[in-house]
Amino acid sequence: MNQTTDLLAAAKKVLKDNDQGSFTIPAAGLYPHQWLWDSCFIAIGLRHTDLDRAKTEILSLLRGQWANGMLPNMILGDNNFLNRRSPEYRIWKSWQNPNSPAKLITSGITQPPLIAEAVIKIGAGMNTTERRNWYQAVFPALLAYHEWLYRERDPRNEGLVLQIHPWETGLDNTPPSINEIRKHSLPLWISLLKKAHVSPIINLFRRDTHRIPSSERLDASDALVFYSIQRRLRKKNYDIDKILAHSLFAVEDLTFNAIFISANQHLVEIADFINIKLSDDLLNKIKKSKSALEELWDPHTSQYYSRDFVTRKLLKESSIATLLPLYAGTISKERAKQLVKMLENNHLFGPSYPVPSVPVSSAWFKPILYWQGPTWVNTNWLIIDGLERNGFHDHANALTESTIEMVKNSGFSEYFNPLTGEAAGAQNFSWTAALIVDLLKS
Ligand code: GLC
Repeated sequence: MNQTTDLLAAAKKVLKDNDQGSFTIPAAGLYPHQWLWDSCFIAIGLRHTDLDRAKTEILSLLRGQWANGMLPNMILGDNNFLNRRSPEYRIWKSWQNPNSPAKLITSGITQPPLIAEAVIKIGAGMNTTERRNWYQAVFPALLAYHEWLYRERDPRNEGLVLQIHPWETGLDNTPPSINEIRKHSLPLWISLLKKAHVSPIINLFRRDTHRIPSSERLDASDALVFYSIQRRLRKKNYDIDKILAHSLFAVEDLTFNAIFISANQHLVEIADFINIKLSDDLLNKIKKSKSALEELWDPHTSQYYSRDFVTRKLLKESSIATLLPLYAGTISKERAKQLVKMLENNHLFGPSYPVPSVPVSSAWFKPILYWQGPTWVNTNWLIIDGLERNGFHDHANALTESTIEMVKNSGFSEYFNPLTGEAAGAQNFSWTAALIVDLLKS
């Protein structure tokens, strides 16, 4: 057996250990439910080892779809008496919204729309008939989700969709989001607690800091703001008009929108394959989104940023999102080159174990703090795909190799120190394993 075979076998074991039958949890203990973009990454890996199981991963995500088309970021379990008593059930109370599914408890927010990509990748391993059946089975749900995103999350018809909680971006505590919440969303009671230095007490009530050192997780007062935003969404019963009437967090997130633009192309491809004509209205929206991405470009700093939905100001903090327009697949060669230059720079996104979630020279950079510095395999995967799409094959190969090397040395961790390659966060993390399978097999 060579090292690659060993790594592959170890990755498959992680996925098997986290397999709950019809879906895969991200990691035992810390993440005991089904997450939206996690399951998409997981299915992308599973398709190499068991195509049917990969399909099931996606179909089980669709069980959670709301009647209005939303796909929730978390499916927490069956709607039975026991779950009613669980904290998750009470925290979200999404059953109060008439659109929520009758038999399942879910969150009330979404996550980056990677599902069309997962559907296409699974379809690539099928013959024409199987693929047509597969696409036909999932297309109505995909269409409803993309239409929901435009209807509810692009109320000004600008082509960019907005996020109402940092969790929706998938990069929870990324600097642009944290800056936003500290500027606009810090309720007085949290400011007072922050001044009183009661973080250790707050941490006693958190699931994550019981399992992972608090130095690798969100600051306690930021975590409280996250829960206060969530509480507010719950009180508004996840009604977007009520939420936007006075929003604590409303951001057109760069990562989310770059993924959405790419997902739209996949949706068009799926519709074409099964001879379904998308409405002119939707096609116009899809076209608009591609050009709207350019509104997030800042000529002064030569970078893309997320934007505040209310003030329309760019949130000028560099983060891993800065590079993700590569993945959108629609930017010019010139812009792509500028992003790749940042990737090559040791002080920005090119330390020994790239790609850090925040540039190394940023004042925010902390090598093992969650989304404020560590390297994550899922964003590496998106960047590798983006580099390929833009013709930077050598860069894509180099990043593939360094990612595999890092995981070979340190295991299937949730995230890694970009300076040393050391593991941090949860261990035996599903998307790390699944995407290593994909990188090894593709
Ligand atoms: C963390 C990550 C998020 C992921 C979730 C489950 O909250 O920030 O992106 O989906 O964990 O793995």
